[in-house]
Amino acid sequence: MTEQLKTDPKATPVLPDAQTVTSVRHYTDRLFAFRCTRPRSLRFRSGEFVMIGLMGETGKPLLRAYSIASPAWDEELEFYSIKVPDGPLTSRLQHIQPGEQIILRPKPVGTLVLDALLPGKRLWMLATGTGIAPFASLLRDPETWEKYAQVIVMHTCRDVAELRYGADLVEELPEDPLIGELVAGKLSYYPTTTREDSPRRGRITDNLQSGKVFTDLGIPPLDPAQDRVMVCGSLEFNRDIQKILDAAGLNEGANSEPAQYVVEKAFVG
Ligand code: A2P
Repeated sequence: MTEQLKTDPKATPVLPDAQTVTSVRHYTDRLFAFRCTRPRSLRFRSGEFVMIGLMGETGKPLLRAYSIASPAWDEELEFYSIKVPDGPLTSRLQHIQPGEQIILRPKPVGTLVLDALLPGKRLWMLATGTGIAPFASLLRDPETWEKYAQVIVMHTCRDVAELRYGADLVEELPEDPLIGELVAGKLSYYPTTTREDSPRRGRITDNLQSGKVFTDLGIPPLDPAQDRVMVCGSLEFNRDIQKILDAAGLNEGANSEPAQYVVEKAFVG
């Protein structure tokens, strides 16, 4: 999603839309996740994003778009973030502690939602880095499992440590009291690394184009009649994946016009 810095001209020094951080977990020196209280009024569809941030030094909120990583039924909200050393927001947000407050604008939006896809057999979730966040929400939503016979998660990071957040999530799904039974036999998890050795290597784009992922998982190549795809990564990744999906005959969907795939840009700055 957008990395544009948004400031609110009408902001006052009083912290608006404040939510309290309940837990923080650091995965690597580049990645962390945190949970916070959820505004009672906030309704969202799994996969959507909201603007969150901190009060800036000038008294104006410093907000960025973050996918909600928790499912729509969760009492709290979860976010997964990169730490950018000189990033105006993440250089400060990475130091947030339980009990402290963040700003959260309760206006969820986004195209990475099940409603923007036509019915299909298989749902592919393609993510690089923190692009796994909206899928962390969707994977914990019963609707995902009710709508699809098979869900394939391809997540690629530079090294194994960066895959941890997604790996933990996938490992916990079968134990989840709400969706554990729905998930059984339906999930294919395909994590890869590009800069460190691991059981599976390579970029998502390369593993799709070479056909390796289809061979490894015993799944037929992308078929516009059966496959639905959600994409969340860097601008370059999204652009390269779109070329592959277009070439396979899939069309981009939107809330107003569901089709075969949807794309969202992961938070990067
Ligand atoms: P690579 O290591 O070959 O650049 P980052 O941490 O820089 O956001 O990257 C996350 C992952 O996304 C890395 O494994 C990276 O691979 C991969 N990646 C970056 N750009 C692309 C792209 N255009 N197509 C496919 N994968 C990409």
